[in-house]
Amino acid sequence: MLLEISPMSLQDLEAVLEIERSTFSFPWPKNSFYREIINNDYAYYFAARLKGENKVIGYGGIWVLFDEAHITTLAVHSLHRQAGAGSILLSHLLEEALARGARQVFLEVRDSNLAARTLYKKYDFEIIGRRKNYYYHEDALLMVRKFTD
Ligand SMILES: CC(C)(COP(=O)(O)OP(=O)(O)OC[C@H]1O[C@@H](n2cnc3c(N)ncnc32)[C@H](O)[C@@H]1OP(=O)(O)O)[C@@H](O)C(=O)NCCC(=O)NCCS
Repeated sequence: MLLEISPMSLQDLEAVLEIERSTFSFPWPKNSFYREIINNDYAYYFAARLKGENKVIGYGGIWVLFDEAHITTLAVHSLHRQAGAGSILLSHLLEEALARGARQVFLEVRDSNLAARTLYKKYDFEIIGRRKNYYYHEDALLMVRKFTD
């Protein structure tokens, strides 16, 4: 899959929200993305498009605070899953974290989210903890990817 990754802009928000609402049971509202893009100096968000097309098909975000980073979101439109877009976005987030000085990258994932867990494992994330009822009635697994020298 040939993708173009670019920093998420306010013009991307309608397409991002469409994916967000069709993907998550508790979708972020528009102003959460707005704040991340406009007001959060530690946040880096990216949108993925099929090469040569304008439509956003996926996105991801990360916070980088000194030597730690935290992946806040990652999603691919359901029609474009299992074709490599999630991997490309995740690699991009990891490269961004590394380039900005992070030594480790954390994230939370639903216990039942096999697709995401498998993806993260493939990218050398390890489970280091469990946050009880993080998603109302479901636990989150806390995962970390450490960058080695
Ligand atoms: C998780 C998600 C981003 C993966 O995106 P994707 O574009 O489908 O991922 P890729 O095609 O790059 O897949 C990469 C690897 O992930 C794993 N994977 C992806 N989908 C999978 C599935 N349905 N079941 C099991 N493993 C899966 C596989 O290991 C795959 O590697 P392979 O193709 O060599 O087998 C996508 O499923 C999604 O948007 N899910 C809903 C939102 C979400 O759960 N986000 C994560 C929140 S923590």
